[in-house]
Amino acid sequence: MKHILYTTLLLSLFVSCKKEVKAPETIKKTGLITQNAMVVSARVEASKIGNDILKKGGNAFDAMAATELALAVAYPYAGNLGGGGFMVYRKANGETGAIDYREKAPMAATKNMYLDEDGNVIPEKSTLGAMAVGVPGTVAGVFEVHKKLGSLPIEDILNPVIALAKKGVLVTEKQEKRIAHYQPLFKKANKDSILFDKAWKANDTIKHPNLAETLERILEHGKDGFYKGETAKTLANFVQENGGIITEEDLASYEAQWRTPISFSYDDLKIISMSPPSSGGVCLAQIMKMIEPFHIDEFGHNSEKTIQVITEAERRAYADRSFYLGDPDFVEIPIETLINEAYLGGRMDNFSFEKATSSKDVAHGNIAIIESDETTHYSIVDQFGNAISATTTLNGAYGSKLYCSELGFFLNNEMDDFSSKPGEPNMFGLIGAEANSIVPQKRMLSSMTPTIVEKNGELFMSVGTPGGATIITSVLQTILNVHEFNMTMQEAVNAPRFHHQWLPDEINMEPNSFDKTIIQNLEKLGYSINEKDSPVIGKVDGILVLDDKTLEGGADYRGDDTAVGF
Ligand code: DON
Repeated sequence: MKHILYTTLLLSLFVSCKKEVKAPETIKKTGLITQNAMVVSARVEASKIGNDILKKGGNAFDAMAATELALAVAYPYAGNLGGGGFMVYRKANGETGAIDYREKAPMAATKNMYLDEDGNVIPEKSTLGAMAVGVPGTVAGVFEVHKKLGSLPIEDILNPVIALAKKGVLVTEKQEKRIAHYQPLFKKANKDSILFDKAWKANDTIKHPNLAETLERILEHGKDGFYKGETAKTLANFVQENGGIITEEDLASYEAQWRTPISFSYDDLKIISMSPPSSGGVCLAQIMKMIEPFHIDEFGHNSEKTIQVITEAERRAYADRSFYLGDPDFVEIPIETLINEAYLGGRMDNFSFEKATSSKDVAHGNIAIIESDETTHYSIVDQFGNAISATTTLNGAYGSKLYCSELGFFLNNEMDDFSSKPGEPNMFGLIGAEANSIVPQKRMLSSMTPTIVEKNGELFMSVGTPGGATIITSVLQTILNVHEFNMTMQEAVNAPRFHHQWLPDEINMEPNSFDKTIIQNLEKLGYSINEKDSPVIGKVDGILVLDDKTLEGGADYRGDDTAVGF
């Protein structure tokens, strides 16, 4: 069962991209290069709006607010008002920080809400329709970032987004396929027909008048224009009429949280990534620290030995993820130990190049605790030297598929990121334990890994990706591609990726992208290779600061991603 769910998800995540699996010869090896500033996101419209804000004199935080909201209009597959996300930042003066605008379980949520009377997980209850929806965090996140770090008036940020919603957005070929693919589920999740039921074709324009009105209320009343008053009433009623449990009180009490990011060193790099309730930063630190003692630059990119070392480190990190990680406001997480070199060195003690470790033999590490499937990423560097890395999601493609026509947006199915039942996999095949069980107002564990990298104390890279469980390993490989294998930002994004997440015990590889002899050799060593289920892994966007201080964008050819800058 878990395998079927995982397979379905990976296949469906990137359904539009199946034909373009390999980076075609025509894909550029160097991304856009600019002198001052850049935005890279999943849609050209959103990158342009963010870039215009920068050109107007706004900073990376103003541009974050504009890009995040523009993605809600231009990329409803994952961009959202009805979801949540995380942002990591590094200011020009070197100060770093992070914000968590992750969804929360509604107050009426219960631990076993997705189980039947026999204790079995009820299919689709946590993924499709109103019961799957967590309390959205995006609007709170945007306003909190703008309040603390922004510099332009909020009108300057919202007006272009509202204009885009009114004018409409061109359908791309990839989007045409995605919409058609998900239409049966839109029909299943919604009582009435929705905007996306129409047979939209590439080059049609989709206008969003109701979303524009919602954004206008947000412009007028700020965060309260979403979490209180007319929008909140309409949203809570809509969810409840569809059988869900979100109330106006849930919305009114939502707050984004500032968090301390996870920071660690790798060679001469300092990596700054997202802390819990995302597992991204902790897992990335664990994997990189387990890899650091090996000379993978000498082993070679995607060589047998490099794949082995990365796979074995991933296997061990994901085993820890499953057991220890959850919402830090509810569970105690031994972060310091989990990313400690001595602990991680010990985790790799039983690794040998002669034979694959079996996931059956890898449990979470022993640490004494003293009492006590769619997403999108964007990176921004501004002309002042500030950088942000933000990943935002509805979880599955178009979230729960439940679309509130009156307000003009899809609602997330983020509740599936909780562990509905210990040991039972979620839609990404991820297994969870008590640390990630459902509790009212708790945040569900995430894999989102918005990351900033410093080199010799200076800004080096902003990077991230969608891809559920594969997010962490895609970010990892992109950083390694640049640092260990001297790739450009664009080459690092283009390069074929692989993924291991402890369970299921297999290496997912982008099909027809890896050397056949290497695959056979890995199989002889006991690795199970799956090239079928992940047409693509991740959709990475990043910005690299080059030696001459110009910026290179890496926009993933696997989507419609675009870098815009000046
Ligand atoms: O927070 C998480 O880890 C997931 N909800 C992310 C979902 C995702 O990346 C789907 N996109 N491919």
